[in-house]
Amino acid sequence: MRFDFPHLSFTSTDSTNLQALNYLSKTNPESGFMLIADFQTAGKGQFGRNWESETGTNLLCSFIFGPLNWSIKQLFNLHLISALAIFRLLEENQLNKLSIKWPNDIYAGNKKIAGILIQNIIKEQKLQWTVIGCGINVNQSQFSDTINASSIFLETGMKFSIDVLACRLRELLIEYFQAGHRMEDLLAKYNAALYGKNQLKSLRLKNDESIRVEIQSVNAIGNLIAKNEHGEFLELTHGETNIDW
Ligand code: BTN
Repeated sequence: MRFDFPHLSFTSTDSTNLQALNYLSKTNPESGFMLIADFQTAGKGQFGRNWESETGTNLLCSFIFGPLNWSIKQLFNLHLISALAIFRLLEENQLNKLSIKWPNDIYAGNKKIAGILIQNIIKEQKLQWTVIGCGINVNQSQFSDTINASSIFLETGMKFSIDVLACRLRELLIEYFQAGHRMEDLLAKYNAALYGKNQLKSLRLKNDESIRVEIQSVNAIGNLIAKNEHGEFLELTHGETNIDW
């Protein structure tokens, strides 16, 4: 066995998130079950985008947590938990200049180093199971100029064991899930690490108008609070908002 906890390990698969959802449809896995792949043929990013990664170079894994029985109002807690777990994993491995770009991209300086895709199973208005898909750039030494990405290797000059990082990430996720009753603390940590905080950014509205706003914080339901040039506070929903980061 590659790991001493319940998991599935693939040399190649379509997507660990797809495999996790498929696995959930057939079984009742233990919370913290991990699916990990050396390569994905159809890796998924947010908003239907692809997630591409070299073979055996980066951490590509999904974790199943549940049954949660959470209100759907608590959905953003999953983003807090997963972003902070990856943030801490990277911090522990000597990464500097880390931040969390709303809602859950992890940045080193101005480059994306990790992405998260959360897919949920909701039954009777309750969040029952979650699949937290994590893509962390670990040992990759080159990225195409068209993507603004970095890796742990590029940031630290050191190569890391993908399996050691996977084990520690699972531990951190479990720890943050257990801290579930202290979501205010997690939100405060998240806001302390917020990318672009107190900076002026351009925001494209639905009518294509562009306005300047100062990024303030993220609230408990996951909306971004920004201040416009008249000093008014706007509450922005993810997916409907286009920010020129
Ligand atoms: C994003 O930033 O757009 C999210 C990227 C998430 C990628 C990971 S890689 C492991 C897991 N399986 C997938 O198909 N996607 C996630």
